[in-house]
Amino acid sequence: MTEETTAVAAEASADDEKRTVVRTQNVKKKYTMGSMEVHALRGVDLEIYSGEYMSIMGPSGSGKSTLFNMVGGLDKPSEGKVYIDEVDVAQLDAYELAWLRCRKIGYIFQSFNLIPVMTALENVTLPMVFAGLTSDESRDKGIDLLRKVGLGERHSHKPFELSGGQQQRVAVARALANDPAVVLADEPTANLDLSTGTEIIELLRTMNRDFGVTVISATHDHKMLSVSDRVVWITDGKIDRIANRDELEIETVAVGDEAH
Ligand SMILES: Nc1ncnc2c1ncn2[C@@H]1O[C@H](COP(=O)(O)OP(=O)(O)OP(=O)(O)O)[C@@H](O)[C@H]1O
Ligand SMILES: [Mg+2]
Repeated sequence: MTEETTAVAAEASADDEKRTVVRTQNVKKKYTMGSMEVHALRGVDLEIYSGEYMSIMGPSGSGKSTLFNMVGGLDKPSEGKVYIDEVDVAQLDAYELAWLRCRKIGYIFQSFNLIPVMTALENVTLPMVFAGLTSDESRDKGIDLLRKVGLGERHSHKPFELSGGQQQRVAVARALANDPAVVLADEPTANLDLSTGTEIIELLRTMNRDFGVTVISATHDHKMLSVSDRVVWITDGKIDRIANRDELEIETVAVGDEAH
């Protein structure tokens, strides 16, 4: 390869890394409660790139979960557009939307949301069954995923027989069941203690690196900053600031210096 072709190849691969997987365009959400209007989102423009780990930070009530519901196809904006893989989510019919939610997106919630009467393995394989895998295929894949999240020995346990951190690991495995392009994690560490929360953050980062899955995580948790490629701050339904990893490192050092 000449120097020139090497440069072109490098540029092309940099472009690949920047493939947009989620794009919001002037997304607004207004809730009407009787005579009161709540403007939960006031025009959010955001591009999320394939394979990145993005954290969304902001005070309680700033609109993080509302934005998640829009990006995850769980609710519709009052105005504006959401594109997933350049497909306008509003144009999808009920069947296509169900397909998108099942195949393209994995969800992780603060309260784990596992099905209590099912074992860890059944919780993980359920989305695969919806996606049409046979029971043998889903069992093998489910056991493999549980092993990857460190729960190889716990697949026949029900949620109440698992610790909070273990339940959230099952939820991480379930979110990855159908090889989604995007995992949405809404405050995944909020119900966990410090060290268990750190483990879940590290697990998400590992999954992001190993599977190339895009992670978008809403959080109050400053531990998330260190693993994020980018951090978006939202206040009062609007983006305040977006920082890249290199800018964050400077801030982390500055905070560390302050402590001494
Ligand atoms: N279904 C709803 N009906 C009416 N208002 C709502 C609804 N859901 C959210 N809101 C309002 O929209 C605003 C944004 O809420 P949202 O849940 O997105 O905040 P958040 O940033 O996720 O907060 P937290 O950090 O506490 O989870 C809040 O003022 C909230 O009261
Ligand atoms: Mg929330």
